[in-house]
Amino acid sequence: MFNEMKTSRTGELHFKSDPSTGLQAVIALHDLSRGPALGGCRLFTYSNTDAAIQDAIRLAQGMSYKAALAGIEQGGGKSVILAPKDMTNREQLFLEFGRFVDSLGGQYITAMDVGTQVADMDTMAKVTPHVSCTSQSGDPAPYTALGVFHSIKASLKACSDLSDSLADAHIAVQGLGHVGWNLCQLLHEAGARLTVTDIDAQKTQLATQRFGATVVSPEDIYSVVCDVFSPCGMGGVIKTDMVNQLRCRSVTGAANNQLANPEAGLALSRQGILYAPDYLVNAGGLIYASLSHSGKPISEINKRVQGIEQTLSHLYQRHNSSGEPTSLIADKMAEDILYGPDYQQRLS
Ligand code: NAI
Repeated sequence: MFNEMKTSRTGELHFKSDPSTGLQAVIALHDLSRGPALGGCRLFTYSNTDAAIQDAIRLAQGMSYKAALAGIEQGGGKSVILAPKDMTNREQLFLEFGRFVDSLGGQYITAMDVGTQVADMDTMAKVTPHVSCTSQSGDPAPYTALGVFHSIKASLKACSDLSDSLADAHIAVQGLGHVGWNLCQLLHEAGARLTVTDIDAQKTQLATQRFGATVVSPEDIYSVVCDVFSPCGMGGVIKTDMVNQLRCRSVTGAANNQLANPEAGLALSRQGILYAPDYLVNAGGLIYASLSHSGKPISEINKRVQGIEQTLSHLYQRHNSSGEPTSLIADKMAEDILYGPDYQQRLS
């Protein structure tokens, strides 16, 4: 259904302010050349409107790159709602936001993101068909976790002296939320040894019981001696000045925007730590949201999510032959798909 509406227009910002519900929202459409934009709706307390707009633009670009590398015929977009002080009127807020989404006539399909829930998607579905992640369409997190699991296999293979067998691997997982928990389940079933952390002690306790995981404090997860460090909590965790604390061979996780800035990717590369670009690794949820809405069977969705392993292995081969940081190679691979070969050379 999403793919019926191809358009070549790019780069749009849409604003909505509705005093009666307190809605202040931005929808950023980064690139629509591959199809209508699919991306989550973030509800967040921003310091000002500019910060919200910048966040929407940055996140929308990330979605274009993610869809391109995942081979999904979908554009990149994202929306943000500036969280009102009074959230008692949540249903009215999301009904109004749903109408805003609907007013774009299907150019943008919204989904869950930080601060939004399945119930909000259900509310919006009352006024627009352009919404995924409803209680009817299902939770994308298990598919995101499956993509991370296959990415970890690719990372283990690429670290030449490591076996690709997860039975021999030690994985440190940061964050035991929807994705992190599902990932731990898959890793445990494959025989991996787990060290985990979360700010929620109930989750870590349960991880010890279910997966025999070792628990460390949120501060200590970075210095765990392990094969793969898997950030599955918040973004911005890899900072230039902390890379030398890391004792892993690879960083391969789900969190969006793991690198605090582009220099952090270069620092990982200098340190000899193989970084699996986050927007490639965590594309499983997008693949699920897009293909399930087009009515594709679960078997096909699973196959496409598993395909992330092959794409990442290909990226690692390019890294091995060129020595270029993996974060830059990923951007180039996505830009080749979006804008044609040698886009960056043409820019300079
Ligand atoms: P979630 O909110 O369910 O889980 C996040 C977990 O991280 C929570 O258990 C939280 O307690 C924990 N956490 C927060 N701060 C922490 C800290 N300082 N140290 C340790 N743990 C901490 O989120 P979800 O859905 O599991 O997503 C995880 C990450 O993956 C996010 O960055 C999200 O943007 C990204 N992602 C999620 C997708 C999905 O399908 N849910 C798709 C693509 C990316």
